[in-house]
Amino acid sequence: MTERSGFSSKVGFIAAAAGSAVGLGNIWKFPFEVGESGGAAFVMVYLAFCFILCFPLMVTEIAIGRKGQRNPVGAFVALGHSKWSFIGKLGILSCVLILSFYNVVAGWCFGYFVEILSGNFSIGEQFPDFVKDIIKVGGYSFVFMVMTAFIVSKGISKGIEKAPKILMPVLLIIIVVLASYALTLPGASKAVEFYLFPDFSKITGEVVYNALGHAFFSLSLGLGAMITYGSYLGKKENIISSAVAITFLDVGIAFLAGLMLFPMVISQGLDTHGGAGLVFMSLPGVFGDMNPFMGMVIGGLFFLLLSFAALTSTVSVLEIPVSYLVDEKKMKRSNAVWLTALGIFLLGIPSLLSNGYSSFFSGFVTYFGASDPTDFMTFISDVASNSFLPLGGFLIALFAAFVWKKENLFEEVTNGNKNFTNTWVAKFLGFSIKYLCPWILGAVFILNVLDKFFGITLYY
Ligand code: PFF
Repeated sequence: MTERSGFSSKVGFIAAAAGSAVGLGNIWKFPFEVGESGGAAFVMVYLAFCFILCFPLMVTEIAIGRKGQRNPVGAFVALGHSKWSFIGKLGILSCVLILSFYNVVAGWCFGYFVEILSGNFSIGEQFPDFVKDIIKVGGYSFVFMVMTAFIVSKGISKGIEKAPKILMPVLLIIIVVLASYALTLPGASKAVEFYLFPDFSKITGEVVYNALGHAFFSLSLGLGAMITYGSYLGKKENIISSAVAITFLDVGIAFLAGLMLFPMVISQGLDTHGGAGLVFMSLPGVFGDMNPFMGMVIGGLFFLLLSFAALTSTVSVLEIPVSYLVDEKKMKRSNAVWLTALGIFLLGIPSLLSNGYSSFFSGFVTYFGASDPTDFMTFISDVASNSFLPLGGFLIALFAAFVWKKENLFEEVTNGNKNFTNTWVAKFLGFSIKYLCPWILGAVFILNVLDKFFGITLYY
């Protein structure tokens, strides 16, 4: 099989894949999930899932992509198992759903960048009204989708690889600086206690489902993003060290984001249960308390970088359906990009309306068994991140362990890593893919769906 053109170097691949992983999930979603789901207890469960289940799955996805040299649907066909290509189709559906709401939040970030640059530090208090101003916010989201589509239309080495190489390190530095600053704020010790000292009695079924869904979402797993990026990775590159770097960067940035945010939330007198508005409500106040020039520079830079982090993620999500349309449906790249981007933007409109603008979408009573009405955006996020992604991971693990088989997986990983089979990582990987991932993911998926969508709670 010929190798398709792709990343020009391993660093380029790691930067792009870590760029996919690091995004709003780390800085916006992780802290608010921690805030809503029991603080440090959630953090512990999330970390365990990242390393025990998600890391092996990341290696597996990259290996499937590199072996298949195609998009997530075509890769299964190329491996000789076309019946399993439905996993890729499920992944494409997840992509479309995720990008539809993710792009809305990315629009908020971009809007905040503009507001803070113009010196509006009270934007934090105006958050509930800001998200209701759908013309403005819709405009920002639209611009964001256009930027995403533009980068994807440029193709792999010219578009997807370039930006994260520069922006990721800058983002990391600014988060470290802000976290160090946050730890000097009044109330920091209370925040650290909430964030880092677990109360294990807080681990309920809901915490486990959310932590699992978030681990998948944050590491961009279960929907074929890593299959797609893996298909552009050269045979000489080491998959294990790449996956280690991506996982540590992603988890590290989320961890630092929490360390930065909770002291800020508490010092601003806000509740840790701030939901989707947590980052948006707490940070501007902190920037506003700095001297005006510093506040504008640091605050502006922060939201600019957050927008970039979101952009390297939206690019990777859009690339998945696009690579499918280009490979399998023989569409011209630019047509595939603009059509998909437009479709997904339109699909995001209910999410755009669901933060208070439309009472219908804001109190969208969805779940068959559940009594609490929830908004459309939370609904889509629950369906996609907490249900479809772990389901995708479950199916990928089943496929790798029982259909493709460990020998083939290991053979692919050995390219670029000669002694792999003799390492403890190989033993752990083989064990996790066969004995942990399918069963834990399958069980959590079923329990979650019964609980969330049918109101049948088997585990509290
Ligand atoms: N991992 C991204 C984040 O944490 O923001 C979100 C994401 C990107 C999910 C790409 C899925 C994906 F394919």
